Amino acid sequence: MLKLPGLIDPHVHVREPGQTHKEDWDSVTQAALAGGVTMLLAMPNTKPPIFDAETLDLALDAARVKARCDYAQYLGAGPENAAEVARLAPSAAALKMYLDSTFGQLRLDDMTLWLEHFRQWPGTTPIVTHSESRSMAAALWMAQMFDKPLHIAHISLREEILLIKAAKEHGIKVTCEVCPHHLFLDLAGAQNCCAPTPGRIEVRPRLATQADVDALWENMAVIDCFATDHAPHTLAEKDGENPPPGFPGLETLLPLLLTAVDDGHLSIDDIIQKSVINPRRIFNLPEQPETWVEVDEKAEYELKANEMHSRCGWTPFEGWRVKGKVRKVVLRGRTAFEDGQILVEPGFGRNIREI
Ligand code: DOR
Ligand code: ZN
Repeated sequence: MLKLPGLIDPHVHVREPGQTHKEDWDSVTQAALAGGVTMLLAMPNTKPPIFDAETLDLALDAARVKARCDYAQYLGAGPENAAEVARLAPSAAALKMYLDSTFGQLRLDDMTLWLEHFRQWPGTTPIVTHSESRSMAAALWMAQMFDKPLHIAHISLREEILLIKAAKEHGIKVTCEVCPHHLFLDLAGAQNCCAPTPGRIEVRPRLATQADVDALWENMAVIDCFATDHAPHTLAEKDGENPPPGFPGLETLLPLLLTAVDDGHLSIDDIIQKSVINPRRIFNLPEQPETWVEVDEKAEYELKANEMHSRCGWTPFEGWRVKGKVRKVVLRGRTAFEDGQILVEPGFGRNIREI
């Protein structure tokens, strides 16, 4: 039995408020615990989006009574809320800026709207951007101009990882995360293996080429965090007209990473660095005392959505053979998950930014 610290997922779409048929604070934190994740940072592109004091309260009121693992809530950058989100910064996970097309209404197209956020955000936690390719380069430049820490969400392209590598070598305060689906799936391969309908491979950033996937693996040392971008949509939505982009990921993260360890592509230390130590440092998160995950490294099995806790009811990794299973999760001294069962009640989770 392998013992790991509780994992931190810095990128999770909870869907509450507003879209609880996809997921809510209860189901998402059950999925987290089942995946060995004991702390998650919740994205703000809910309905309504989380972008001021009132909507922050809305999300946190639901989390307080429903969450079963620890958490913090992101604020979203809108066209006119730079001063307000800066004031709320101590209560939030960090600031999220949507600079490219995605799910939900939070998107800042006009680059002059970015300025006030980069100017006013206090910088005790990073500005996290959904910025692909050239908008990532623009965000890097703006972060440097205002001397603010920048965290690039879900990088997927060779040019992105190489640009971040160069920026780090020049001393720019930038960090980045990669999602398992961009490490384990390429677009052409996914079209062949796991896309019974075109909607099942829709995700933003899109799945990329094998050359992009190879570049991420070759530059593993540049990657600061693993993040799931757990973005649950129901099977009916994914298989229907206008399928929304996004994959669930909380319950497949650790089995996929452990399988890569077994294959010799990763080390256990990579998992601890990128899923615990680095996210804790980058987002200024507290340690969780008496918290660990017990993993059966030898267990070989198939990933199956019908054994998972997410409400969305599917996974792009259905039927994948993996090696490494979460047996038990202890959170702040309580056994929270054991052999498939969630053992802590809604409300056990703590807002780690509560002051
Ligand atoms: O595929 C995605 N889905 N990418 C995002 O950036 C947002 C997410 C969602 O909220 O569904
Ligand atoms: Zn996301």
